[in-house]
Amino acid sequence: MKPVIAIYPGSFDPPTNGHLDLIDRGSKIFDELIVAILRNAEKSPLFSLAERRHMLEDMTEPFRNVRVDTFEGLTVDYALKAGASAILRGIRAISDYEYELQMALMNRKLHPELETVFMMPAEKYSYISSRLVREVAQLGGSVRDLVPGMVEQRLKEKLDPAFKLEHARPPRIGKRA
Ligand code: PNS
Repeated sequence: MKPVIAIYPGSFDPPTNGHLDLIDRGSKIFDELIVAILRNAEKSPLFSLAERRHMLEDMTEPFRNVRVDTFEGLTVDYALKAGASAILRGIRAISDYEYELQMALMNRKLHPELETVFMMPAEKYSYISSRLVREVAQLGGSVRDLVPGMVEQRLKEKLDPAFKLEHARPPRIGKRA
């Protein structure tokens, strides 16, 4: 039988424990799962595309059937190019439903052969969003338990200049710049 490939598209700015939970669940029902980061020139993301890709590659390293890619343009076009037959999306609460339904139906209109599959993350992640993680981190709150440790570190490096200084390599003495 043909392997079932799914894409998991999103902004992932930054990737959270909720995303990781969904990747874990998706990896168990699809033969191959491609985490597809949208390259959106209009938005000004906190993390560059390369940074987000690097974080997701690190997070998905333990999953043998998951890989990370980037795309621009329509999600459905990317999905078809990648040989996928499904789009995976997470629904945390009723508030997500309207937007997700609209997107799923629009994607179906564009390419009826692609199926959107919704999965729910564990309840303990149901309140986590990248936007809130950014906001909490930017205002100095703790994001422990909301994102993987490596993402927490990247957020600190990006947002806390003191952290950057503390962890910077010592200057080389005796050499002219
Ligand atoms: O993580 P996000 O920001 O909720 O992901 C939204 C995403 C990337 C899935 C959505 O914006 C998208 O599919 N964008 C690509 C452009 C596109 O296909 N638009 C029509 C979707 S109905």
